[in-house]
Amino acid sequence: MTSTSPEDLRPPISGSTRLAAVVGSPVRHSLSPTLLNAAFGATGLDWTFTAFEVAEGDLPRALDGMRALGIVGLSVTMPHKAVAAGLADDLTEAAARLGAVNCLVPVDGRLTGHNTDGGGFLDGLAHDAGISVEGRTVVVIGAGGAARAVVEACGAAGAVDIAVVNRTSDRAGSAAELAGAVGRVVVPDRAATAIAEADLVVNATPVGMSGGPDGDMPVDPQDLRVGQVAIDLIYHPLETPWLVALRRQGIEAHGGLSMLLFQAARAFSLWTGVEAPVAAMETAVRAALAARPVA
Ligand SMILES: NC(=O)c1ccc[n+]([C@@H]2O[C@H](COP(=O)([O-])OP(=O)(O)OC[C@H]3O[C@@H](n4cnc5c(N)ncnc54)[C@H](OP(=O)(O)O)[C@@H]3O)[C@@H](O)[C@H]2O)c1
Repeated sequence: MTSTSPEDLRPPISGSTRLAAVVGSPVRHSLSPTLLNAAFGATGLDWTFTAFEVAEGDLPRALDGMRALGIVGLSVTMPHKAVAAGLADDLTEAAARLGAVNCLVPVDGRLTGHNTDGGGFLDGLAHDAGISVEGRTVVVIGAGGAARAVVEACGAAGAVDIAVVNRTSDRAGSAAELAGAVGRVVVPDRAATAIAEADLVVNATPVGMSGGPDGDMPVDPQDLRVGQVAIDLIYHPLETPWLVALRRQGIEAHGGLSMLLFQAARAFSLWTGVEAPVAAMETAVRAALAARPVA
């Protein structure tokens, strides 16, 4: 395998190289190999990372293969996250609450299912905005997999009010429940009031994403004010129209790159027991994204 960067300190691939991988479908565009190979390169670990296209329904066979082949870490992406939660031998609290696993860790012959998305969001928030959600009010727009991870993590980390705004109300209700007593549903017509009162506003819809749905603003940027923090979970493009509009109004606004980075950093540490080389991972993923056309 070729080096991912000039600083690649990994020994050459040999019979003792350990293998980790991501499974998903489609998986060809996954950024996990970029992130994790940069991490192995920067730490000099004799590990490598690849991607396996695993069709829906084939995850049980893939996990048998993982066990048989001694694969030492597996990232799990769509469409397998919920099925992986059912197949893991043990689940962390977050993975159990979410019913979704994005990282499998072999421990003493058993597979532990983790969900590092929510923790990755919190780490990214600390990294980008220097804040935690403890004692803060949060609005999450969207109620899909990313929104659910953010709601669950914010609830567990001490947010005092989490309002979920989604066009499909039963999905909003299911996501809000993940925050326990501090979670609530706000219908889109009332979103402006909830947003005005929030410390943190998170876009967890694909509105504004390259190749995403029509429209480029998940909510009106005018509903936000200076003093609030906005996070757009989209990372392609790095600068969404919503982020640009918010910053033009003087509002602190950050994209989704850090969540992507820190969920992978958490997976790296779970597998290796080594602190993740976040700066090297960020350099690699920024280069990979810069090479992607924006639709
Ligand atoms: N930074 C990261 O690490 C990271 C990780 C995961 C995802 N993401 C990003 O987060 C976004 C959501 O991903 P996901 O996996 O949660 O997707 P998902 O499970 O498909 O959920 C999408 C959510 O967005 C809503 N939505 C979709 N199109 C919409 C539209 N035109 N107007 C209003 N709402 C709309 C959906 O509403 P309904 O329920 O009504 O259908 C749903 O709640 C994507 O942009 C993805 O790239 C980022």
